[in-house]
Amino acid sequence: MSTASERSRNRTGREWLDNPAGLGALVPDGFTLGVATSAFQIEGGILDDGREPSTWDTFMGQAGRIADGSDASVATDHYHRSAEDVRLMRELGVDSYRFSIGWSRLQPGGKGGASRSAVAFYDRLIDDLLANGIRPMATLFHWDTPETLQHAGGWLERDTAYRFAEYAFLAGEAFGDRVESWVTVNEPATVTLNGYALGVHAPGATLLFDALPSAHHQLLGHGLAVGALRDASVTGKVGITNVHSPVQPAGDSEDDALAAELFDIVHNRLYADPVLLGRYPQIPEPFEHLFGFFREIEPSDLAAIAAPLDFYGLNYYMPTRVAAGSPTDAATPDGFSSVASQLPFSLEPWPEYPVTGFGWPVAPDFLAVTLREQADRYGTALPPVVITEGGASFPDVVARDGSVDDEARVLYLAEHLAVAFAGAPGVDVRGYFVWSLLDNWEWAAGFSQRFGLVHVDFATQDRTPKRSFGWLQRLIGGRSGG
Ligand code: NOJ
Repeated sequence: MSTASERSRNRTGREWLDNPAGLGALVPDGFTLGVATSAFQIEGGILDDGREPSTWDTFMGQAGRIADGSDASVATDHYHRSAEDVRLMRELGVDSYRFSIGWSRLQPGGKGGASRSAVAFYDRLIDDLLANGIRPMATLFHWDTPETLQHAGGWLERDTAYRFAEYAFLAGEAFGDRVESWVTVNEPATVTLNGYALGVHAPGATLLFDALPSAHHQLLGHGLAVGALRDASVTGKVGITNVHSPVQPAGDSEDDALAAELFDIVHNRLYADPVLLGRYPQIPEPFEHLFGFFREIEPSDLAAIAAPLDFYGLNYYMPTRVAAGSPTDAATPDGFSSVASQLPFSLEPWPEYPVTGFGWPVAPDFLAVTLREQADRYGTALPPVVITEGGASFPDVVARDGSVDDEARVLYLAEHLAVAFAGAPGVDVRGYFVWSLLDNWEWAAGFSQRFGLVHVDFATQDRTPKRSFGWLQRLIGGRSGG
């Protein structure tokens, strides 16, 4: 077996470290290269212009929720610096920018018409992007549920799906003539698992399997929002973003295989099957009792959830190795959960892979696995795939001269982009968006995990492109015809 340092020296990404243009030559024709962010993580200005609180405003104010005790009231101050951020993207040379519209900003309180100042802000952003040759991709829900809706039960309630569709219509009416692609809901799995089941994200509920209605209602919200966007006659493409983590049993036992199957369901299939196949996955018999909520679903919901899509957004960060039995340590990748120790499975480490700042395995081979899995599972029901997020946090160091040599991020990107460019049989991969343009407020990790191509000094808001930024810029410059 090779040692960790040998493996690190032999990483395939090394061949592209000093030759990004060479990798750029492998970009397929028409492939979109972009960067991604989300409203709550970058905008700040949470009290500006009539914005009302979201579940995250409340959650971040509760003691002990955020690792470094920080909050996102200023974040990267993008609400006041969007012009500078668009200039950075233009310098980088990306084709597209994926951002999210703050639900609590566009429709404060989750009801009524669109806020004029919010429309003005996103209008400016979108127009600025287009003027700089960057195609806008807008996400409607990136976790900032209006707090007023949460008081009424949030995503545990069916009504939130209808409220979401109304908001989607407002956004479609306001920006539908210029947004190139729409993502309805971002990572509903994370909202259900971290937010409603384990309590490590807003709204902090610890319902374990009783959190499942929040999955169904987000999916219903997605389906209804697809209809609302089409009713608003948007000119752009419409899709959803699911996070996929290919799953491996930790050992050879039947119990580990079953636990892995359960994790695959609650993390992947529960969100992809209804959207792409119009049905929920079959639950293995020992776990059927945990999914009683299936019986309460209204029959017409699945048809709404399976509304035809123009693309399927897939976020890939890492694979998961699963063992049977409860975890002995209740720390999840996103914080400490008081209930994780009651789960019937535990997540095991991957000693053979290097890890990111979060401790997540860097495993580009599993991006290929997840792409093949989509082709196998969904066949011709799978629309063109856009990898709407991929990236890594590292403890970046600012040198005396202010530069940031984030070689680990360059390697990560080189290896994952190479897989994305190669694609997989049966999957039409159309793009890859790097998470993230900027270091930003990483949810329960606060400012302690930096994902950006651009370093942000959170005290001064100074933005400094890292080595990865220059590297990606040269890759983009090296595209055939680029
Ligand atoms: C996925 C989420 O969409 C994004 O908000 C988050 O920052 C990244 N994962 C990294 O954890």
